[in-house]
Amino acid sequence: MKKGLFITIEGPDGAGKTSIQKEAARILSEEGFHFELTREPGGIDIAEQIREIILNPKNTAMDARTEALLYAASRRQHLAEKVIPYLDKGINVLCDRFVDSSLAYQGYGRGIGVDQVFQMNQFAIQDTMPDLTLFMMLEPEIGLERINRNRAPGDVDRLDMEKIDFHKKVYEAYCDIAKKYPSRIEVIDASKCFEEVLENTVSAIRKYLKKLVNTIDK
Ligand SMILES: Nc1ncnc2c1ncn2[C@@H]1O[C@H](COP(=O)(O)OP(=O)(O)O)[C@@H](O)[C@H]1O
Ligand SMILES: [Mg+2]
Repeated sequence: MKKGLFITIEGPDGAGKTSIQKEAARILSEEGFHFELTREPGGIDIAEQIREIILNPKNTAMDARTEALLYAASRRQHLAEKVIPYLDKGINVLCDRFVDSSLAYQGYGRGIGVDQVFQMNQFAIQDTMPDLTLFMMLEPEIGLERINRNRAPGDVDRLDMEKIDFHKKVYEAYCDIAKKYPSRIEVIDASKCFEEVLENTVSAIRKYLKKLVNTIDK
């Protein structure tokens, strides 16, 4: 059975994940590589409902492990209902955030421990790991500034309310994770102008596709 490619985009808020995802998919589609776009937490109705609970600014009492479990539950549903059926049909998927977000935010940011959070997530994802992950590397201060500059008044979620130290921890965690999985994770300098980030992202995906074709040919 032909399987689709599963590519994820990671990085702090404001790094450009959502904008790059859309534009990269448009360019690649013009080159004949179609990607279905989706995002976490969410992407389908049940997971979007879980997303609302996680991000609701009123849920200040939420325990760190509850948060990690909710992300994993939403991830499971999204995989089962959307991502895996696409991949099984040979359709490529480009997903905004996946398990590395949990490792960085809950494992490291909330201090639960990266290994524990990964272990717990294995129940949810079984063996569905991304073929390639693009890490949009950006200092959190710059990301938060980008978001604040463009945000509608009052549009703040529970994770936005975290102090800068939390976002710095998340950023450091992402850097560690990228070092730990160098063959899966491609680091993109997201501090550059949008066009350059886009070009570097598309090049990284093209490079992966090329490598894949060469492996199949052999
Ligand atoms: N390379 C860039 N330079 C400057 N601004 C950017 C860049 N990439 C994205 N932005 C802007 O930053 C904001 C956050 O981008 P977004 O794609 O929503 O990031 P994310 O999904 O990672 O939170 C948007 O207003 C977007 O237009
Ligand atoms: Mg986004």
